[in-house]
Amino acid sequence: MQSNVALKPEAVARLHVGIIMDGNGRWATRRGLSRLRGHEAGVEAIRRIVEAAPDQGVGTLTLYAFSSDNWRRPKAEVTALMALLRFYLANEIAALMRNGVRLTVIGRRDRLPDGIAAAITRAEAETCDGTTLHLRIAIDYSARDAILNAAARAAGTGQLSRESFADLITGETGLRDVDLIIRTSGEKRLSDFLLWEGAYAELHFTERMWPEFDADDLADALASFHRRERRFGGLTAIAPAEVANL
Ligand code: FPP
Repeated sequence: MQSNVALKPEAVARLHVGIIMDGNGRWATRRGLSRLRGHEAGVEAIRRIVEAAPDQGVGTLTLYAFSSDNWRRPKAEVTALMALLRFYLANEIAALMRNGVRLTVIGRRDRLPDGIAAAITRAEAETCDGTTLHLRIAIDYSARDAILNAAARAAGTGQLSRESFADLITGETGLRDVDLIIRTSGEKRLSDFLLWEGAYAELHFTERMWPEFDADDLADALASFHRRERRFGGLTAIAPAEVANL
């Protein structure tokens, strides 16, 4: 299959990219900084990638910010991450709106500290008209729990298709499956991220730590993605624009 990377974004269907933003802690401790400083630098990386993604043909970006297993971290780190999230929601909305970014949050909301669930609802409402990029942030997220909850809701509802079940899992209508999952920091695991939506995702693992990940790294990941032949179990390559119609 020819590389599509030289094509203009509008010439191919806009991709869904998921990122497991790993390595904040190691990036910081190697520099003699606190882990919190690593997470703060991680937020700066989020800003860079959200800005760069639309020009690189990405229409949906799902970022793994806090897994349901991250509650096991020391209380001080969890508190710091929640404070960062609160800060992000309070301060980023204007920029997201300006850039046409629609923000939605996936994962449980009932265990978040006071006020955060309301801030999420507000941010989602204020950015709901954005069409340049759909930014999904996964917080208190577990893909297995999302599938389990969808199964519980589907029980007894009669005929179910893959598409309608996917809508129950994602909370969206017709969300594109994730095309590419990137994990930074050299780890090679999915860690309970987008297990249903990523059934045919290409995987890209990079040694770069999340705080240093930039637009060029995203471009490298996408270039490698476009060099791959996606056959979805068949024998012939399927172009990104056709994937949505599978
Ligand atoms: C993994 O690095 C990163 C996380 C568990 C949190 C990701 C959070 C951010 C990028 C910032 C907060 C997000 C928002 C939306 C405000 P790690 O801490 O596991 O790093 P390590 O493996 O090197 O210890």
